[in-house]
Amino acid sequence: MSDLEKLEEEALREIDSASDLRRLSELRVRYLGRKGVISSALKRIGGLPPEERREYGRKVNRLKELVEERIRERERELKRRELEEKLSAEWVDLTVPVWGSRGTLHPVTLTLERIVSIFRGMGFDVEEGPEVELESYNFDLLNIPPEHPARDMQDTFYVNRKGYLLRTHTSPVQIRTMLRRKPPLQMVAPGKVYRRDDDPTHSPMFHQVEGLVVNEDVNFRHMKFVIESFLREFFRTDLPVRFRTSYFPFTEPSAEVDIGCVICDMEGCRVCKESGWLEVMGCGMVHPTVLENCGIDPELYQGFAFGMGVERLAMLLYGIDNIKLFYENDLRFLRQF
Ligand code: DAH
Repeated sequence: MSDLEKLEEEALREIDSASDLRRLSELRVRYLGRKGVISSALKRIGGLPPEERREYGRKVNRLKELVEERIRERERELKRRELEEKLSAEWVDLTVPVWGSRGTLHPVTLTLERIVSIFRGMGFDVEEGPEVELESYNFDLLNIPPEHPARDMQDTFYVNRKGYLLRTHTSPVQIRTMLRRKPPLQMVAPGKVYRRDDDPTHSPMFHQVEGLVVNEDVNFRHMKFVIESFLREFFRTDLPVRFRTSYFPFTEPSAEVDIGCVICDMEGCRVCKESGWLEVMGCGMVHPTVLENCGIDPELYQGFAFGMGVERLAMLLYGIDNIKLFYENDLRFLRQF
């Protein structure tokens, strides 16, 4: 019994003097963990004379509750203190007039403009489409059948009106363009897209640039040339580019494009998962069914298409490892561009 009192005294003293959250979580494991001090004390019950067991068990349980409560309190206190320190260290005087300070373009905007301007230089037009899109343009006309996993509720944000959704990619702008204009076509479509996805490399809203070329006698080599030229201009180096066979419902054949890892120079790192290569876009020859869906005769015309993620390219270009930095609007981050 006197051991328990000593234990209590020691535990509370240590908790109260824990100077940060890491130390506190060490103490939580030490006292409350499955193999912690209090669990071992409970296990000692079996070795006690029967008449003492009840009283002893009660005391250990009371001690456990006391320690839990004190740890919670200390945690609240440490968190409050951490926040206060942060607030006073990062304090900004919002009443100071802004003299001669200009805004800067957001890194995602800079990257978008860089991409679009390279394609303009190659003679591409710029097209746009709505972010609230027809389900049929986002999926059906792109040859994505109703049972396709991309349609799963997990990935798509639906809106409160039947037949509409938040577009999950910029590919529906291909459809809009082909329905509205006759070939020859050469266009890129920048814009926001939405998916139910959220982690350090995925955001529920992000940007894509779609590309489409339709003409007589267009082939895979034309596509390779355009994409390789784009990537070398975008990264301003003569980087290795490879095309890997892949699958998209709206292209046949389809490929994914990798570049030599710009972070580690192909030595192997965390970003390229030790492979030396980074996937940067999808592409392929427009599926004849998609051309037909848009009233274009696949016997007379062929096309190629590609789609890339803007945040992904921005992260590689600037060496940024967390996509969330783009949306927090922390001036210390934004001012670097
Ligand atoms: N829409 C695809 C996506 O969001 C990207 C894509 C792949 C676009 C291949 C294309 C293409 O135009 O041909 O993942």
